Amino acid sequence: MTIPLSRPPVDDEIKQAVLAAMDSRQWILGPQCKEFEKELARYIGVRHCVLSNSATAGLWLTLRALGVKTGDEVLVPSHTAFPTIEAICFADATPVFVDADAFYTMDAADAAAKVTPRTVGVIPVHLYGQPVDLPAARELASKFGLWMLEDCAQAHGAAWQGQKVGAFGRAAVFSFYPSKNLTVMGDGGAIVTDDEEIAARCRRLRDHGRLNKDVHSEVGFNLRFNDIQAAIGRVLLRRLDAMNDRRRELAARYGTGLAGLPLELPRERPGARHVYHLYVVRTPRRAELAAFLKERGIQTGVHYPVPTHRQPAVEHFAPSPLPATERLVDEILTLPISAGHTDAEIDAVATAVRAFFGA
Ligand SMILES: Cc1ncc(COP(=O)(O)O)c(C=O)c1O
Repeated sequence: MTIPLSRPPVDDEIKQAVLAAMDSRQWILGPQCKEFEKELARYIGVRHCVLSNSATAGLWLTLRALGVKTGDEVLVPSHTAFPTIEAICFADATPVFVDADAFYTMDAADAAAKVTPRTVGVIPVHLYGQPVDLPAARELASKFGLWMLEDCAQAHGAAWQGQKVGAFGRAAVFSFYPSKNLTVMGDGGAIVTDDEEIAARCRRLRDHGRLNKDVHSEVGFNLRFNDIQAAIGRVLLRRLDAMNDRRRELAARYGTGLAGLPLELPRERPGARHVYHLYVVRTPRRAELAAFLKERGIQTGVHYPVPTHRQPAVEHFAPSPLPATERLVDEILTLPISAGHTDAEIDAVATAVRAFFGA
């Protein structure tokens, strides 16, 4: 038996939705996309949603819509998936790497210390499903006159004091990659915002800079979304809160099963609703533990072993050392979690981890 890191749902309701979208013969930015955009905007609590074919594309579109230009500096946590950084580079701006706080998310004090006259914005990342310190991030943005673009790729349905993440910045971006809390069974992404102009510009840029069918007001690209996947997203959006409740239940189960071990468990930031996209534990014996679990058919992951500020692709920015990030990347280990896991699977993982520690 293998216990996978993540198990996305596949069932008859989803299959029926796909077949219906196929029959509609409107496959690109058709009725399913339009409805998914409306439903997602309503779910997050903002006015606009613009679907795109990935979160990477969504981040780039939003940076362009925000008017980012060559030489502009953007504050970003190093401890994130590389696409967050890539979008900044692709928009011709300079990523300024920020260290991690005790919850593995952006340390706002370190970000403030790195503001220069060229800084235009900040991209906090709600990593692993845990909201960043939003009061601190908002204060940073308002104190220095920066825009805030939330990277919500890992945090669909996460909230701070009851308000969903994605509604705090000028705009936010979500990913629908298969392992995400909300997926479309393939690549996909969405931009959400209250800002009419940003939404309109993202819509144009994702479709070749089109003003209308025949007129292109600027050079964009083809970053459109499709109806077959939007139909899947609509079915799963209706289940998102229940799926997140299930993830939280399983995280609590891990909390009980792994208590008392020399292992640091994830903590929920006070005031936040963590949606456990990933369940990340921490131990200096990371490699040994991963090998032990692999032998027992339990998949684990490391998100992420090489910090983005140490990636060869961005070496030329000469980022300064980030001690907290550099320490944590050697010790973190992701254990299996998703709404599709059973109690028995989580118990089996916990039992194996306990056996590793001789408990
Ligand atoms: C934090 C974060 N940002 C951005 C992305 C990019 O998402 P996508 O794969 O949809 O382009 C990911 C995907 O893994 C991510 O985890």
